Amino acid sequence: MSLNILFTISEVASFAKTGGLADVGEALPKALKKLGHNVIVVMPRYYEINKDNLEHIPGALSVPMGKMGEFFAGVYKSFLPNSDVEIYFIDYEIFFGRKGLYTSEDGYSYGDNDKRFIFFSKACLELCKKIGFKVDILHANDWQTAAIPILKNTRYKDSFKDASSVLTIHNLQHQGYFPKDDMDVLEIGWEHFNPYEMEAFDAINILKGGIFHADAITTVSKKYAQEIQTKEGGFGLDEHIRAHNYKLYGILNGVDYTQWNPKRDRYIAKNYDVDDMSGKVECKKDLQEIFNLPKSSKPLIGFVGRLAEQKGIELIAQAMNDLLHLDAQYVLLGRGEKWAEGFFSDVARRFPDRFACYIGYSNELAHKIEAGSDLFLMPSLFEPCGLNQIYSLRYGTLPIVRATGGLDDTIENFNPFTKRGTGFKFWEASRNALFNTVKWAVDIWKNDKEAIKKMQQEGMRKRFSWENSAKEYEKVYERVKK
Ligand code: ADP
Ligand code: GLC
Repeated sequence: MSLNILFTISEVASFAKTGGLADVGEALPKALKKLGHNVIVVMPRYYEINKDNLEHIPGALSVPMGKMGEFFAGVYKSFLPNSDVEIYFIDYEIFFGRKGLYTSEDGYSYGDNDKRFIFFSKACLELCKKIGFKVDILHANDWQTAAIPILKNTRYKDSFKDASSVLTIHNLQHQGYFPKDDMDVLEIGWEHFNPYEMEAFDAINILKGGIFHADAITTVSKKYAQEIQTKEGGFGLDEHIRAHNYKLYGILNGVDYTQWNPKRDRYIAKNYDVDDMSGKVECKKDLQEIFNLPKSSKPLIGFVGRLAEQKGIELIAQAMNDLLHLDAQYVLLGRGEKWAEGFFSDVARRFPDRFACYIGYSNELAHKIEAGSDLFLMPSLFEPCGLNQIYSLRYGTLPIVRATGGLDDTIENFNPFTKRGTGFKFWEASRNALFNTVKWAVDIWKNDKEAIKKMQQEGMRKRFSWENSAKEYEKVYERVKK
């Protein structure tokens, strides 16, 4: 049965992106549409999204903000690229007319993120009323839109009585923890300010409330669905999640192979595929040239990602001295925590023949690193799903990962006896475990070409299709729909 789905998310890859959330925001709605559902995406119109390319929807959208009064937003519309999926943009200069999505350029979260995303969540619901979209499923993502399931059951319960809600947790570390006065901006009634719903340490926790109110909760891998129920992975919400685990599902993200495929990738020096890998050699040379690294045949180890604690950058930093003594080259692409930006730039300055980095954001370089590297390092402390290791598989670039969350679910450890596997894993979050595993991978890479070839082939043949994931979401929708 075809469902009307309102997919609300704070970033979508073709328009504004900080991480994998945006990849999901683009690919999952398209995959759902292909299954025959009527999907509408809604995101904020950030400063970086040019209005000139969007269609303006006449008339202001009135958004009630409780004690702050009534706010009037503009609405724009477009389509997700190469699809007929409509995407709406909520335009409100005061909240979204700034450079960063969540943080200022110096890396600090905006002080009014609570107001910005409560406003956005309400605007999504008001938009449905304005355009007459009769919603079956309200699909919210992360804390930024986790107020939607709460509002649906409270402030907006009459308008959305036929709708059900699904909340996807992409990252439990960020929960939307704000002063309790926001109860009056949400306008949901103080009876909801209790430790089972909204309250945490005398403040509100929007994700906590979303988990309570959503008809289903999903997260982006099966392993992470387990981990968030433990003290180590629960970021203080493990008990709360355990209490709601009857409605929790783990659904692995897919890959958009129209974007991430060495056979057709337009960013890389030469295309290649599993039957002819000669292009990969050219990609490696190209990468070495771009980063001014000597054109040696040593294994080249890539890293792409946010320079955030989550990604295990401290472990890399701690192991750096040892890593530099291995017979390997390194390329790192990322931006984020200032200490890390400074640290890696400094290593690159001191060891230009072994370590290179680009501090910043570049989709083109991300593709070139996936294609040109031999090994790909992802030592995350926690990783709800992780996309780069799955991209790496498709590019024949063997992932070295810590066995956590989606990394554990998607990578099979190399078995020296059967010579099978798709990557190299370690368990302990320590510099030694990281170093020993990188060393192991480098040794195999240098001494057992046959095993490496087999692993590359196995990884390149794997497919993590969005169609399969979308079918899993469809099952969840069917289960909760009214
Ligand atoms: P997360 O969402 O936690 O950042 P994922 O592995 O799910 O991690 O997704 C990261 C996405 O962001 C990938 O598509 C990756 O290529 C991209 N990415 C991260 N940092 C950069 C960067 N500095 N430049 C280009 N792309 C980046
Ligand atoms: C989050 C997670 C990442 C996941 C992405 C998309 O940013 O950190 O592991 O792949 O969301 O779901």
